[in-house]
Amino acid sequence: MALRPILVAPDPRLKAKCLPVAKVDGEVARLMDDLLDTMYAAPGIGLAAPQVGASVRVLVIDIAKDGEERQPLRIANPEFVWLSDEDRSYEEGCLSVPEHYAEVTRPAALRLRYLDHQNEIRELDAEGLLATVIQHEMDHLDGVLFIDHLSNLKRNMILRKLTKARAR
Ligand code: NI
Repeated sequence: MALRPILVAPDPRLKAKCLPVAKVDGEVARLMDDLLDTMYAAPGIGLAAPQVGASVRVLVIDIAKDGEERQPLRIANPEFVWLSDEDRSYEEGCLSVPEHYAEVTRPAALRLRYLDHQNEIRELDAEGLLATVIQHEMDHLDGVLFIDHLSNLKRNMILRKLTKARAR
């Protein structure tokens, strides 16, 4: 268990396309636990491995509200089995794009196949917030941030502000 520093855009490591893990071994399971610790501390509801500088297809999610029991999802090598035709818009944020939020439209429901922390194949049906978070985190594995779904104008404005904030 350890907290890892979260990279902030425009860090080039956030743009990398991540590789699948060969299997979920002890090292990958530890990465999942570190991601969860880092996410809970931030706090956030999802975190992908490239956000802590690990270019592998691993992510964690927990959308439980404050005071609810934790419901951590540990996910490796995720793939969409199905995405709904129906879309949903949600105001998204990201721990790598601090203090900026914007509406993003994505499929409203999906079925996911992935490896869990014990290297077991699992399938998960998701809709609503969970479907949004899964797609947001999976984007990270391909070097895509939620701001990449916005207009160039809006994205560049946010990136300029982040760069300026870091220089301070
Ligand atoms: Ni994010």
